[in-house]
Amino acid sequence: MRLFLISCFLITLTGCSASESTSDAAVSTAEYAVAMPDEFGAQVALDVMQEGGNAVDAAIAAQFTLAVTYPEAGNIGGGGFMTLYFDQQTDFLDYREMAPALANRDMYLDDKGEVHPTESLYGAKASGIPGTVAGMWAAHQKYGKLPWSRLVQPAVTYAEQGFVVPAKLADRVSRYLKRIKERGRQTNFANYFGPAATAGALFIQPELAATLKRIRDHGPQGFYAGETADFIVSYMQANGGLISHEDLSKYQAKWRDPIHFNWRGYEIVTAPPPSSGGIAVAQWLGMVDEVIKTNVLPAYNSAPYLHLVSEAGKRVFADRAEYLGDPDFYNVPQARLIAPDYIARRASEVNLTAISPTPEVKPGLIESEDTTHFSIVDKWGNAVSNTTTINLSFGAGVVAEGAGFLLNDEMDDFSAKPGVPNFFGAIGGEANAIAPYKRMLSSMTPTIVLEDDKVKLVTGSPGGTTIISSVTLSILNTLLFDKSAEEAVNNPRFHHQLWPKDTIRVHEGFSEQPLTALEKMGYVIDRDRFGDLHLILQQNGKLSAASEANGRGKAVVKSAP
Ligand code: GLY
Repeated sequence: MRLFLISCFLITLTGCSASESTSDAAVSTAEYAVAMPDEFGAQVALDVMQEGGNAVDAAIAAQFTLAVTYPEAGNIGGGGFMTLYFDQQTDFLDYREMAPALANRDMYLDDKGEVHPTESLYGAKASGIPGTVAGMWAAHQKYGKLPWSRLVQPAVTYAEQGFVVPAKLADRVSRYLKRIKERGRQTNFANYFGPAATAGALFIQPELAATLKRIRDHGPQGFYAGETADFIVSYMQANGGLISHEDLSKYQAKWRDPIHFNWRGYEIVTAPPPSSGGIAVAQWLGMVDEVIKTNVLPAYNSAPYLHLVSEAGKRVFADRAEYLGDPDFYNVPQARLIAPDYIARRASEVNLTAISPTPEVKPGLIESEDTTHFSIVDKWGNAVSNTTTINLSFGAGVVAEGAGFLLNDEMDDFSAKPGVPNFFGAIGGEANAIAPYKRMLSSMTPTIVLEDDKVKLVTGSPGGTTIISSVTLSILNTLLFDKSAEEAVNNPRFHHQLWPKDTIRVHEGFSEQPLTALEKMGYVIDRDRFGDLHLILQQNGKLSAASEANGRGKAVVKSAP
C-alpha cells in the first residue's frame, strides 16, 4: 500500500507521468503496463488488457483512440511502425505512408529549381497515402484476440460523445493556428479545431465518429473504399492533392524483419528501413561502446559525455543522409552499416578532445514536429512498441472534409532536392528521392530490448530526427547508467545530427558548466526541447513505466489478478 501512496503523490506533483501501482505489486509476478501519450489512450489500453486482451489488442484500441484525443499525432490519416515481441518471437510491422502514383522527384521544386518552403508541409499536396488503418488491421489479423469492433469502439465513443479538451492540447491547437497564419497556409484546420478545441470544452467530432464506425464495421474497406475513400479523393481533387482511389486501394502494410543486434549482453530489437532509426541506434550505441572499451566512460551528462555522443552522432547522420531510404526501391546496405567491424572503424574516427570538422565527416561505407509513441507490456510478457505519425503537429493541417480526420504531411520526409534539408534539417539524396509508391525515409524507432529472452525495456519517442537521440539516450540512461524509468524520460537530453554544423540541441535542466565547456570547444548550444519518451522498464522481474512529465502522457503498471 505504501508504494501506491508514493506513486499517487508523484502523479499529483508531475501532473501525469509517474507509474501507478494499484495493489501491493511487489508480490505480484504477472504485471501489465502502458506508457501512453495521453490519459484516454492509457485507460482504453488498460481496459482492453483487463478484459483479457493482449498487448496488440491494447495497441490497436489505443491507436484508434489517440486518433480522436491526440489529434496532433495520433491518427488514421498517417502511418507508423510497430515493433513486437509476441510469444517469444520478434516481429515488425511497417504501416508507413507511401507516395501517391502521381508523385515525382521534382514535385516540390519551383521554376528555378528551388524547394518550395511550405508545399510539402501544409495542404493536400503534402500527404502520402495513409497506412494506419491497414496497419492496425494487419496487426489484428496476425495477433489479435478480442474482436476488431471491440477495439475500435472506444474511439467511436470518444468521437461521438466527446472528451474534455486538455489545456496542453488547446495550447498546441492555438499555436498551430498562429503558425499556419504566419506562413500564409491557412487550411480548413480552423473549421474543425478552431473554436471547438478550447481548454475544458467537450470536443465532439461527428464526421470522425462516422468514419470510425465504417472502419469498425467494415475493417480496411471502411477506409480505403466506399464513403471514406470518396471523401479523401474529393478533397484531394478540390485542393491540389494527388491521392486517388487507385492509390488507396493499392496501399498495403508490410511485415518486415526487425533489426537485431547485441549490445553489452542485451538483444536489441528495433526498426529496419524505411526507418533510419534502427540502423542509427545500432551505430550510435555501438560506437559509444567501442570508445568506452578503451577509454573511461565520461560522467553522466558531463561535457565530455555530450561531446562523445555528438561525435558518434555526426557519423550516424552522415550515413543516414547517404544510404538510407525505402528498401523496396533502394538497395540499403543494412548489414554492412551495422557490422561490428564497420562500427569499430567509425568509432576509431571519433575525436575525444575536439570537434571533427563537419564537412570532413563523410558517409563511411565508401570508402513539432510531431509524432507519438506508446509502449505496452501485457501479463503474458508480450510487448508492443509503436510509433505513429502524421509528421508535423496536426500533419498537413487539412481535414478530409466529410471524413473528419487530419491528413499527414509525410511527403516532407522525402529528400525534395539532394542536399537541401527538410523540416527536421535532414538531408538526403538518391536513396530517399521521391518516386510513386515509395515510402519516405523515417526516423521512427520503436524499440524493444530483451535480456535472456524476456522484455527488459520498451521505448520510443516522437521528434523527427531527434527520435534517434531520444531512443539511444533512453537505452544508455537505463542500461549503461542504471537510471530509473522516471529518470530516463525526465532527465535532460541532447541531440546532434551533423547539420546544422556543430550544433547540440539541449533540454532545459543541464547545469551550465558542461554547456559552457562545450561552447568553448566550438559547439553551438540550441536550447530547444524535443521528444516525448514513453517507456517500460523491467528490473528484477518488476515493471516500471514512465511518460515524460513535459507532455500529457500517462504511465501505469498494474498487477494481474
Ligand atoms: N515524420 C517523422 C519521421 O517519420 O521520422
